[in-house]
Amino acid sequence: MDRKEFMNLLGFSVGSLVVASCLGACSKESGIAPSNVDFTLDLSASANSALNSNGGSLVKDGIIIGRTTTGAYIAVSAACTHEQTTVQYQANNKRFYCPNHGATFAESGSVTGGPASRALTQYNTALNGTSLRIFS
Ligand code: FES
Repeated sequence: MDRKEFMNLLGFSVGSLVVASCLGACSKESGIAPSNVDFTLDLSASANSALNSNGGSLVKDGIIIGRTTTGAYIAVSAACTHEQTTVQYQANNKRFYCPNHGATFAESGSVTGGPASRALTQYNTALNGTSLRIFS
């Protein structure tokens, strides 16, 4: 192996390490918020029955949909922006909670407690009869 071959090999290795390092770092604090969201849940279906009671919630297509203690429907991205653990809706505390490291988010998705520093993405909801639309 001559010097050029050695340097090429070394450069490739260092480059690979940088890429691998970036991938690891980039996965933190990035979150996975679905985009171009537009789907409808049939609230008369048993699979969606959790949303028929105040305080209920479910996760669908990367989005957590909750029904507040006053009966309003809210929706935010389900993946914690710290390390992507699925958050839980805690209606009585009016917040989303990450069971992994304890981050908390307001019902709007904004951060109220670390270690997460970026908000969950909020989506629109619209109820028409028993059809609940969730959309960007
Ligand atoms: S993954 Fe949610 S706080 Fe760490």
